[in-house]
This record gives sequence, structure tokens and C-alpha cells, in this order.
Amino acid sequence: MAGEQARADLVDPFGRVIRDLRISVTDRCNFRCTYCMPAEGMEWLPRSEVLTFEEIHRVSRIFVERFGVEGIRLTGGEPTVRAHLPMLISQLSGLGVDLAMTTNGATLRNSAEELRSAGLRRINISLDTLHADRFEQMTRRNELENVLAGIDAAVAAGFSPVKINAVIERGVNDDEIVDLARFGRERGVEVRFIEFMPLDATGHWANDRVVGQDEIVERIAEVFPLEQMPARGAAPADRWRYLDGAGTVGVIPSVTKPFCGDCDRVRLTAEGQFRTCLFATDEFDLREIMRSGGDDDALAERIIAAVGTKWAGHQINRVEFIRPNRSMSQIGG
Ligand code: GTP
Ligand code: 5AD
Ligand code: SF4
Repeated sequence: MAGEQARADLVDPFGRVIRDLRISVTDRCNFRCTYCMPAEGMEWLPRSEVLTFEEIHRVSRIFVERFGVEGIRLTGGEPTVRAHLPMLISQLSGLGVDLAMTTNGATLRNSAEELRSAGLRRINISLDTLHADRFEQMTRRNELENVLAGIDAAVAAGFSPVKINAVIERGVNDDEIVDLARFGRERGVEVRFIEFMPLDATGHWANDRVVGQDEIVERIAEVFPLEQMPARGAAPADRWRYLDGAGTVGVIPSVTKPFCGDCDRVRLTAEGQFRTCLFATDEFDLREIMRSGGDDDALAERIIAAVGTKWAGHQINRVEFIRPNRSMSQIGG
């Protein structure tokens, strides 16, 4: 039926057109980053509650064919812990979209080639510190060497650009801003510094732990002079170019300069709940429609209804802010 269906943009109440779908393929993770998960006590979804590849493909197809979505990003938890991930990638690559993944990089050493040949086009890897002991404190895993090897493997496999996501938390790793920038210059990858957001499972977020974009850029520019690049469009990162030609660097200023006004993103959780914002407090159940025999029209209708509730933006900086009742790992970043 999809072929007969007219294509119509998904437009939210503020006139923003949805172009980007972020799909969490699992809530599980092989790390326990302090800014994301508690050390222990995470309860994983039973397998039966997680969408099958067929279900993920079906929802994706509707977004692409009916609603003109142009980019799909796979997230987790940690997406690479989902069994047979390359199979899902090759199914989704048939949709002809910009197919990307955000990963902690720990297993890429062995899988980067296979992911690339399956049809993955872009990859973003998390790396918050270059010190092994601090890495172990921040992720509660001793995996720095594996992640560094994973970054090299991603570059060698031909992913371009490879981006590095570094969440900066004051008093934890803000002394490494320049070193991480230098790492990006030397390895030919784009480092993006991320302002710490109140999505940690332990609830230790506080405003004074956020290192803002202005401070990050100032600290880098003191050592490596920078020039700002043109406006970012819907992407979360503002970008700068090194004046000496050694590449680019970005900052994702969710707290100090929210970019919600240009947001084109929606999200699907591992168990098939549709969310119109990282910070949304409402969810729309797509799995229930699929598992009770609903057709593509029923799915499309619920998606349209959900997008009709997308709000103007998050309220991190206001007293009205309500934390979503999921941690980052359960939403997918
Ligand atoms: P590309 O720019 O396409 O490479 O991807 P991306 O930056 O959108 O993807 P990635 O998963 O690497 O996102 C990096 C970080 O940006 C996430 O971990 C979040 O911290 C943040 N981010 C992504 N989307 C949103 C959003 O809609 N709102 C907010 N506040 N932060 C977001
Ligand atoms: N604040 C900002 N970014 C976060 N991430 C996880 N938790 C937080 C947080 N509290 C980022 C990770 C990764 C992505 C999946 O989400 O660094 O890049
Ligand atoms: Fe796992 Fe990513 Fe959360 Fe770290 S940030 S615990 S790697 S889901």
C-alpha cells in the first residue's frame, strides 16, 4: 500500500519539518558511564519487548517513504551489543537514507569493516578522556585501549567523517579540553564537546557541573586559533575550523544555547515507544499497533498525532524543567 500513499512532510506545531529518526536498537550497554547510568541495578528489557528487525524496518520504511525522513541514526544503550546488527544495517541501507550510528567504540576494532560493508555511512564515537584511570572512573570499564583502537579501525574502514563525542563535566574532565582537541587534530577526526545534560541516571547533574560552549571554545582557541563556521542548520553541533587547516571541532551547547528551534529529530526507543524530544515526558506506543495487527495507516496516524504534540523545546534552565523518567541510555542520546 505504501507505494500508493502520497508523501507528506511531518510538520510539528512550530513549523519544524521532521527529517531525522534516531532509533535505539537496545537498552543494554557494555559500559556504565557515570553521566548516563548507575553502577548497578539497571534492569534490561526482556527480549520479547524489544522491537524485532522486521518491526524496526517497518517503522523506518514508513518514515522514509511516507514522511520523507532523510537520515536514520542507530543508538543504544550501545547499539553494537545488539546481536546481528550488520543484518539490520543492510536491511535499512536499502531505504537509501543517510544511515549513521552513535557508539562507545569498544567493539569497533573487530566490527568496523563489517558495519561499513553492510551499508553504514557515518559513525560517531564517544571518548571523554585520554587517561586510562579516568576512563575507568567515568565509564566504570577498563576499555580505553579498545576504544582508541576502535577509532582507528573506523577511520581505516573508510568512515568519513568520524566524529568523537566528549561529554565535559566540570571537575571531572574539563582539564582535558585542549588535549582532546589536539587528539582530534592529530587523528583527523572531528571532536564535538557536549555540555553535560540532566539525563544521568544517578541524578547528580547540577548547573555548576556544566562547562558552557563559550568557555570550551575560549580554552581551545588560546592554543589553537579558531574561526566559526556557518550556521549549523538542524544539527546539534556548532562548528569551528582551525586556522592552521588541521580540521574542525564542534560544541553541542544543549544547556547554554539550546538549539531546539531548529530541531528536526524524533526518536524510537528499543521497545517501540515514539518520542518527539530527548526530554519528552510523553511517549506513543508503535509496538502495540504492530503487534495487534495494525496496518501502516494506523502507524502513520499515530506518528502524525505524536508529532502534533512536539513542544517548542526543553526547559533545562527553568524551574519548570521535569526530568524525563528515562536515563540517556534508555532513550538513545
Ligand atoms: P550528526 O551531527 O549527524 O553527526 O549526529 P548527531 O550529532 O545528531 O548525533 P550524536 O548521536 O553523535 O549526538 C551527539 C549528542 O548530541 C548526543 O549525545 C546528545 O548529547 C546531543 N543531542 C543529539 N540530539 C539532541 C537533541 O535533540 N537535543 C539535545 N538537547 N541534544 C541532542
Ligand atoms: N549529557 C550529555 N550527553 C550525554 N550522553 C550520555 N549521557 C549524557 C549526558 N548526561 C551522550 C554520550 C554519547 C551519547 C549517546 O550520549 O556521550 O555521545
Ligand atoms: Fe553506555 Fe553510552 Fe550510556 Fe556510556 S553513555 S553507559 S556508553 S549508553
